[in-house]
Amino acid sequence: MRTTLRIMLSLAVLILLTIGIGFVQRASGEEATYVGAAKCKLCHMKQHKVWSASEHAKAFGVLKPEEQKDPKCLACHVTGYPQTRQVKTETEGIQCEACHGPGSLYIKIHPKKDKEGARIAGLIAKPDPESCKSCHNPDSPTFKGFDYVKAWDAIKHPK
Ligand code: HEC
Ligand code: HEC
Ligand code: HEC
Ligand code: HEC
Repeated sequence: MRTTLRIMLSLAVLILLTIGIGFVQRASGEEATYVGAAKCKLCHMKQHKVWSASEHAKAFGVLKPEEQKDPKCLACHVTGYPQTRQVKTETEGIQCEACHGPGSLYIKIHPKKDKEGARIAGLIAKPDPESCKSCHNPDSPTFKGFDYVKAWDAIKHPK
């Protein structure tokens, strides 16, 4: 009886420790960073081709040289700019990760079909239609309204 109790207690302590360590690891977890569309292209050739031909791929190039240094414009014309304040080849324009989330962590996990693991690592598998409006809104100097159905039809990139 005593031994059973002792084993059960040790087990309980072990379980608590495991949970505790897992929690600390997650709390001190790395921040995901932007890897750029060229990395996604390696496995998503079809989606990359559709995207390359879209206005999103050209969204940095449409800015004049002085506008390419203006944080007001970069906020919606550079991937992740509000978070990183950086302009790099990997973030110029509206790349995959502007909608699907920064990829450095999920890029190693999601191809293994671990959907929950990928979500925790930051993959947004199905971007919310509302998320388009973080850029497609009246703060855009060229805004003329936004119709999700029409807009998605213009950029959709199925399997
Ligand atoms: C090494 C190959 C590989 C790379 C690189 C890769 N993917 Fe994937 N991706 C896959 C595979 C395989 C699937 C299908 C997984 C599944 O069916 O759950 C997938 C699925 C997806 C899905 C759909 C997920 C779902 O649950 O429906 C999205 C979105 C996606 N990838 C985005 C990206 C983005 C963005 C990048 C670049 C940051 C990227 N992938 C890089 C292999 C890759
Ligand atoms: C709130 C997000 C947002 C901000 C801020 C923003 N843009 Fe845009 N921009 C967009 C969107 C979205 C489009 C696509 C057309 C539309 O709906 O306005 C666009 C389109 C454009 C175009 C494409 C040509 C056109 O007429 O459609 C140019 C050029 C442009 N923006 C320049 C700028 C400049 C210059 C600034 C900074 C003064 C700026 N944008 C700030 C979101 C933004
Ligand atoms: C402007 C936002 C946006 C950009 C940019 C974007 N995607 Fe998507 N992506 C979406 C949305 C929205 C869906 C559809 C989710 C759904 O099915 O409702 C999607 C779906 C997908 C899927 C799943 C396709 C399927 O049929 O199951 C993959 C894979 C994917 N995107 C990869 C990419 C890659 C790779 C890039 C860059 C080359 C990219 N996306 C760029 C918004 C975007
Ligand atoms: C991070 C900012 C951002 C997000 C999020 C975003 N877009 Fe855009 N989008 C832009 C910018 C900037 C342009 C203008 C690019 C250009 O003209 O070169 C644009 C242009 C477009 C265009 C072509 C011009 C037009 O207005 O018809 C379509 C279509 C579009 N986006 C659809 C979408 C859809 C659908 C989503 C959500 C799934 C989305 N966008 C999310 C920034 C964004």
